[in-house]
Amino acid sequence: MKMVQAIIRHEKLGDVKSALSEIGVVGLNVTEIQGRGVQKGATRQWRGAVYDVDLLPKIKLETVVDDAIADRAVDTIQKAAFTGNIGDGKIFVWTVDLVVRVRTNERGEEAI
Ligand SMILES: Nc1ncnc2c1ncn2[C@@H]1O[C@H](COP(=O)(O)OP(=O)(O)OP(=O)(O)O)[C@@H](O)[C@H]1O
Ligand SMILES: [Mg+2]
Repeated sequence: MKMVQAIIRHEKLGDVKSALSEIGVVGLNVTEIQGRGVQKGATRQWRGAVYDVDLLPKIKLETVVDDAIADRAVDTIQKAAFTGNIGDGKIFVWTVDLVVRVRTNERGEEAI
């Protein structure tokens, strides 16, 4: 099993969720975060003053999926979250040792 963690734009959340549903990925978490990439945030203008914003609001979406579908989930998120502009986000993947469904005590992929 794999944890797929995607940092995406707020306005892309709906598209990403829909695209994941279409490939059967349903269980997920969404968190509002602040982060920065290689540009270290951005320069913003507010009431005439120019200032640096160190951290920008982003969405963190996390879903644990079968190994069999992990690559497809990543591709799906990448396509749905893409605008082509800087700040589109990033996707991280790592191995998950165990998933337990509390209600049934199912273990592993059955519990996803
Ligand atoms: N190396 C990283 N580790 C953890 N989180 C990161 C990392 N890089 C980016 N992020 C998160 O992803 C968000 C979006 O990053 P962003 O898309 O700006 O990446 P980038 O590497 O700067 O690429 P781009 O040049 O397309 O902007 C950041 O605000 C931060 O929350
Ligand atoms: Mg960036």
